[in-house]
Amino acid sequence: MIWDVEAIRAQFPILQQQVNGSPLVYLDNAATTQKPQAVLDAILAFYTECNSNVHRGAHKLSDEATRRYEKARDDVAAFINASSRAEVIWTSGTTESINIIAKGMSERLQAGDEVVVTELEHHANLIPWQQACKASGATLKIAPIFDDGSLNEGAFAALLNSNVKMVAMPHISNALGTVNAVQKLTAQVREKAPAALVLIDGAQGVAHGGVDVQAIGADFYVFSGHKLFAPTGVGVLWGRKSVLADWPVWLTGGEMIASVTYQDATWGELPNRLEAGTPNIAGVIGLGAAVNWLAAQDLVAMQAHEKLLLARALELAEQLPAMRVVGAAADKVAILSFVLEGAHPADIGFLLDRQGIAIRTGEHCAQPLMRRLDVPGTARASFSIYNTEQEVERLFAGLKKAQSMLL
Ligand SMILES: Cc1ncc(COP(=O)(O)O)c(C=O)c1O
Repeated sequence: MIWDVEAIRAQFPILQQQVNGSPLVYLDNAATTQKPQAVLDAILAFYTECNSNVHRGAHKLSDEATRRYEKARDDVAAFINASSRAEVIWTSGTTESINIIAKGMSERLQAGDEVVVTELEHHANLIPWQQACKASGATLKIAPIFDDGSLNEGAFAALLNSNVKMVAMPHISNALGTVNAVQKLTAQVREKAPAALVLIDGAQGVAHGGVDVQAIGADFYVFSGHKLFAPTGVGVLWGRKSVLADWPVWLTGGEMIASVTYQDATWGELPNRLEAGTPNIAGVIGLGAAVNWLAAQDLVAMQAHEKLLLARALELAEQLPAMRVVGAAADKVAILSFVLEGAHPADIGFLLDRQGIAIRTGEHCAQPLMRRLDVPGTARASFSIYNTEQEVERLFAGLKKAQSMLL
């Protein structure tokens, strides 16, 4: 199956521009992805056809807004194979989703309990657990990685015991691209730490397609719309219904109640119970459009294309002696984190930008991981389904030019 990358690119208006006099090469997809016309159209259609508040209106516009908004929930539930639409909770993004879970857990944890995360974490899946442990007296354990950036699965398993009440890990590392075998690791948790809940930080995992939350078998899978071709400000907390059923309410107000008196209130049903206030309606509708757009693509061809881009990047990296690739796990997505001998990542980013090439440089919200790998930071080119082999080649031509100016 052939991935028609030009046909895909044509659907992303932003990619058609020049930056600093050169055609844009957008390689910062792990930070955020661009939006296809289908998503832009869905957002515009909401505002031009039925902008209105959801659930509460007694009029046609509100009914239509509610229909589109709730259809997005069905579409996202189908996209991740949730067993029920009530398991899909809208949040503002991965960070908020994890904080909701960590806040809820901090009410349940106590001294003697253990929480396990990995050395790969983005700050968003580390700091909330530090806070939950500090608030409750539980102990935070960090599962180590090998030097190639892959999880030391033996050491991970050794941390599991009956005191562990929470295990949180990334599906894919944003800094290195490492893919964790989340289904296998979750099964290990069930066996060795039966009292633990399992959270998968899917911020990077979801964009590569094929996420099946029932097959993974965790209790929570969380992600952000904006890394999935959808707008910013909207995300998902998927939680197993039996776990969410009595999950502590984190935000109170309109929409989430069953009944209210001046003195007290009772909570409504899932998913609304965890969704107080007016939601990001346009964002949710945009996310629904994004998952439908992605679901209509050929997943196998899409993943093969991403693998091809990574293989080409690694091939060219070998021909650039000053480049050291950081993160070489056997299973990794098309994220190339690297240092160039004698050049600061920030200078590389600046000089590439002058050539119209957008990458990210720095610590990638993973300071402890950078320290663990003994690098001050990296330059990171993260590829997506609309990138081409020619763009990979332009990255390396750009790097050579940057190198000649810096060294
Ligand atoms: C692995 C991972 N987790 C969490 C986050 C946080 O996502 P957001 O900033 O959209 O809440 C990111 C964003 O880069 C990420 O890559």
